[in-house]
Parts: sequence; structure tokens; C-alpha cells
Amino acid sequence: KLSVRPIGIGSAAPQTLITNSDLESVHDTTDEWIRTRTGIQSRRVLVHDGTRKVIDATAKEEDEKSGEKEVPETLRTLGIEAAQHALTMSGVDPSSIDVVICATSSPDDLFGDAPSIAHAVGCDSSKVVAFDLTAACSGFLFGIVTAGQYLNNGSKNKNALVIGADALTRWVDWDDRNSCILFGDGAGAMVLTSDGGEDAKEEDGFGILGYAMHSNGGGYDDLKCIYRGEPKKITTPGDGTIVQDGSYDLMSMNGRKVYSFATREVPAVLEEALEQAGMTVDQVDHLLLHQANIRIMEVVAERLGMPMEKVITNLYKYGNTSAASIPLALDEAVRTGRVKKGDVIACAGFGAGLSWGAAILRW
Ligand code: ACO
Repeated sequence: KLSVRPIGIGSAAPQTLITNSDLESVHDTTDEWIRTRTGIQSRRVLVHDGTRKVIDATAKEEDEKSGEKEVPETLRTLGIEAAQHALTMSGVDPSSIDVVICATSSPDDLFGDAPSIAHAVGCDSSKVVAFDLTAACSGFLFGIVTAGQYLNNGSKNKNALVIGADALTRWVDWDDRNSCILFGDGAGAMVLTSDGGEDAKEEDGFGILGYAMHSNGGGYDDLKCIYRGEPKKITTPGDGTIVQDGSYDLMSMNGRKVYSFATREVPAVLEEALEQAGMTVDQVDHLLLHQANIRIMEVVAERLGMPMEKVITNLYKYGNTSAASIPLALDEAVRTGRVKKGDVIACAGFGAGLSWGAAILRW
């Protein structure tokens, strides 16, 4: 158990939409194939030189014209917007955030996006620690558990901001109809606090009631995106050759292997987290899985004995947004009133690494 409560959630998705029909025009595929095999109907993607209008938090109240401003639409600006929505819902002042974690496998800056996001939302640089965490589609799940441990480690840390943001369409092989149909881009964010709050009752338990995380590098070949430099001879003191000017290979995926890994391990890790929480499946109000494929969600729900009505999904409009998918779906469920205060949500992330994990959250 981790004595931390989720108190704010937010999300942001790129403006450009690609529908299944759009893909039909460039690939030997059909809307029907994609919908029946995956549940996906459209996805949002970051485009080169894209911009978006955001509320200008720095605008002075008396200056009516500065309500909105145009910013580049990048992974970082989506992360900032999602974080601002989550902070507003939480009521926590950004200067009171102690830890910022950005879970991503596709940052704008390979050195990390978290510090610049923390700065942009107004965190106090004299106290905040911000860093990226890479765990593919398990990233957000691993991020909230890591943040919970920071808030429960006996230090003065009280508030954390966890962002899940990915733009895997940058790395997807658009010539591979097997994988390019699956992915979309987006960002989501959650604010967690170890402050019990006036209305938090000890007997209800706190936010992360149980959790479990795993990885198995033996399966890394099944889903990967590997750095490949073109060797460029550079005379070094040791007269060696270092690899420079390279980039990453496009993503490669064995869809069937990933599918069977997910349907085998996700029910097991959810049962492990439930056991740790001392709870049964009947006590869970919602099942929220990484939004990879509706068929994976159906199999997991069936193996756990949960009806599909309890499954939260918005995969059909966003596709697989990797580390963003869980907060993107939870944000919608909270803001539409589907998830209510006190509800128990069983969450699971899974993906490349291979990596997978589950957390039982009380909202
Ligand atoms: N349109 C039409 N036909 C297609 C397409 C397409 N877009 N893609 C593949 N096909 C064909 C295949 O070529 C194959 O044809 P064949 O039988 O003539 O060889 C046929 O459809 C069936 O292919 P399968 O691979 O068996 O299809 P499957 O039912 O397994 O679905 C899918 C493929 C959707 C990729 C599925 O395996 C899946 O969702 N796997 C999980 C992938 C995943 O979630 N990855 C992300 C993990 S998260 C992360 O960390 C990034």
C-alpha cells in the first residue's frame, strides 16, 4: 500500500486526426479490419510544425486579448497542458509540487522533458526534482508507483505530478500496416498527494491500495526501437571509431507475441495487486487497462470475471497512445462523472521491455 491519493487528472491530444478511412487510402487495409481486430477508429497525431492555441497562464487579467496564445504543438507542450489541467483540478499550487515524473519513450529532448515541463507549469526550482522515466506503455503505471514511493519515503515530499506522454507515431513504421494502424499521440497527467486531506478517512484506505510491477528483457525483441548510428570515423585519443550521426530504427513489433504476453500477464498482475490490497474483483468499480487493443481488454476482463460495463476505454478515438493512454482515459471518465470520488479502479499497464504492472487506485 502507498499512502497517496490521486487528486487531479488532466490530458491533451494533438489536433490532427487520422481516421481508418484515411489509412485505407495509403495501405492495403480496411476500416472494418482495423475496427474488428483492434477497436480503433481514429487517432490523433503530432505533425511537423503544428501549433495549438492554449490558455495563456501568464496573461494579465486586465489584458482581455491575451486569454489565448499560439504555441508549437509538441510532446512537451501537450505535457504542459495536461499537467496544467491536473494541477487546476487538484487545487495544489505548482510551487508545492516536490516531484515531477514524465513517463515517456519519445521525448522532445532525449535528455528529458520533465524539468522543462516542471518549469513551465510554475514548479519551484529550489525544491522540485523532475526526471523522465522510460518504460514504454507501462510508463504511467510505473510513474505513479515511483511517485508514491517518493511521497512515502519519510522525507518532507508531499505532492507529485506524474505525466504520461508519448508520440510513437514518430517512430512507427508507416509502411507496416500491422503496426501503423495502432498508434496515436497524446499526454495525460495526475497529481498525487500524501496529505490525507480533511475528508480522507483512514478506514477507506488511501489512493494506491496495492500494486505490482514486472519486467522481462527476454522478450525485448518482440517490441523495440533500437538506436542505429552510421559509423563515422572520428580520431579519438585512442584512435577509435565512435558511432555518430545516427538515429533510431523504426519500431518493430511481433503483434501476436505481444498480444499473447498481454493476455497472459495482465490478468495475473491484476490479481497480484488485488491480493496485496486485500481485495476481491467484486470490490473493483472500474477496470482501466493500457489502451492497446479492445480484444486484449475483453480477454482480461473475461479472465478476471468482470463485465465489460466496468471497462473504461476511449481507445476508439485515440488509438494506442503508449504512456499517455491510462491518464487520457481516466481524465475523460472523471470529467464525465463516470468515475466518482471513492471509486476503486484496477489499472494495468503493459508493453515493450517487456514490462507490465498493476495498481489498485481509490479515486
Ligand atoms: N489490414 C488488413 N490486414 C492486415 C493488417 C491491416 N492493417 N495488418 C495485418 N493484416 C493481415 C496480416 O497480414 C494477416 O494476413 P495473412 O493471414 O494473410 O498472413 C492477417 O491480417 C492476420 O494477421 P494477424 O497478425 O494474425 O492479426 P491479429 O489478429 O493478430 O491482429 C494485431 C494483429 C492487431 C497487431 C494484434 O496482434 C495486436 O493487437 N497485438 C498487440 C499489439 C500491441 O498492443 N502492441 C503495443 C503494445 S504497447 C507498447 O509498449 C508500445
